[in-house]
Amino acid sequence: KTIYVLNGPNLNLLGKRQPEIYGLETLADVEARMAKKAQELGLEIEFFQSNYEGAIVEKIHEAREKAAGIIINPAAYTHTSVAILDALNTFEHPVIEVHISNIHTREAFRHHSFVSGRAEGIVAGFGTLGYLVALEYFAG
Ligand code: DQA
Repeated sequence: KTIYVLNGPNLNLLGKRQPEIYGLETLADVEARMAKKAQELGLEIEFFQSNYEGAIVEKIHEAREKAAGIIINPAAYTHTSVAILDALNTFEHPVIEVHISNIHTREAFRHHSFVSGRAEGIVAGFGTLGYLVALEYFAG
């Protein structure tokens, strides 16, 4: 089965962006670790990052036909995007929400997620390890 891994705005700068919060690993590093783990678990994986809300919505539409699950870090859109929530609500397989930081210990505007009500699981505050944990959800 194929799992889509979707990352939202500014995560292309992972490793350079506020490393005290998000760590020094780049998105390419994280994707390489995930690809290795996916292989071990017998999963196909497709990565996508965009700084554009509509591009993420359209990738979720594509996932409707092609994916058995979605791992998504919507980044700032977590806290703003009804459009991403609506798109995820058209997807008929599990969704796992990932945040590198613990959004609940940060500014109040990060405490609410539009996506959480739709997600089978949420991982936050485990750094980039959260993405690997999310992948394990789809094992077996
Ligand atoms: C984030 C948390 C969001 O509040 C923030 O806007 C991000 C990254 C995280 O992974 O911790 O861009 O989703």
